[in-house]
Amino acid sequence: MTTAAAGVLDRLSSLADETRTRILLLLEGSELTVSELCRVIQLPQSTVSRHLRILFQDGWLSVRSEGTSRHYRLSRRLDPGARRIWGVVREELSATSAARTDRIRAGSVLEARAERSKAFFSSEAGRWDLLREELFGRRADLQLLAGFVNETEVVGDLGCGTGHLARLLAPFAKRVVALDRSDEMLEIARVRLSECPNVDLRRGELESLPVADGSLDVAILSLVLHYVLEPVQALKEVHRTLRPRGRILILDMQRHDRAEFREEMGHVWLGFSPEELEDWLDKAGFASQRRLDLPPDSDADGPLLFSLRADRAGDEPDALTSTHEPQYSGNQS
Ligand SMILES: C[S@@+](CC[C@H](N)C(=O)[O-])C[C@H]1O[C@@H](n2cnc3c(N)ncnc32)[C@H](O)[C@@H]1O
Repeated sequence: MTTAAAGVLDRLSSLADETRTRILLLLEGSELTVSELCRVIQLPQSTVSRHLRILFQDGWLSVRSEGTSRHYRLSRRLDPGARRIWGVVREELSATSAARTDRIRAGSVLEARAERSKAFFSSEAGRWDLLREELFGRRADLQLLAGFVNETEVVGDLGCGTGHLARLLAPFAKRVVALDRSDEMLEIARVRLSECPNVDLRRGELESLPVADGSLDVAILSLVLHYVLEPVQALKEVHRTLRPRGRILILDMQRHDRAEFREEMGHVWLGFSPEELEDWLDKAGFASQRRLDLPPDSDADGPLLFSLRADRAGDEPDALTSTHEPQYSGNQS
């Protein structure tokens, strides 16, 4: 007998059993565990497991392990011959009363599964934020949102400090230019970013950025503007480095009166009012500003923050978009 003929006969023999065809009908529609199948077809576990083993050996099933459970479903990789055979068998058997009863029981098994997760959330709703943090940490949201950066985009993390934002964004962006004026901060950033080949770490000042004209799609100033002596000059520099319609994202403090921050941390500005920042961004050539004063974080004791997004305005769209290659070759560390 040829191998192909043996294959067809094996297929036919594994289908020549009512329980096995009932199992296949069920597993064509849903992925089920052994115990769920037992509840649906109301046979002991040893019997169901035996049939599953035969179906699996003959290539009808795929199986996925999750913890201690094994989830079965009709294989998506059936060869054309098996598909044809199964098509005929299914047509003949799916209208039988056993198959109809199985479908109804499977529906309630799946509903019970959904109920378990609903029940979990209705009892855990009040604890979910804490549990989420315990299970997945505080930065899971950020990791999700980093996906808003397009893989064709070049991001400038200007005043990058120890590089945690650059680290977060690098896997999503085409390239990240991470820049800071402090050698000590850059040293820590260098270690953190050692496995991010698309991060370009540079030493430089915001007021005279070592970054080519129109080379950034996004410029991020996270908690840095309050250190800058000449914000308008720095914002003009950022404007220069952005491509037309590129955007600037600023995270900084709302106006506050914690004057000790000047001494303790060298802050130049005690936060920013919406009006002054709007005026400076305007002068630097940015449009479409959107500032959002952020709600207090109960774990934080610093001043309240705002986030702001503005777009580079007033450019011919095509003048600078064609290249992202930096033309600057100066002070890179
Ligand atoms: C408070 S840290 C914020 C670091 C990081 N962006 C973050 O969100 O954690 C401010 C950083 O800005 C840098 N910095 C301050 N003024 C700067 C300037 N004029 N040019 C470049 N970097 C500057 C400091 O060296 C420091 O690393």
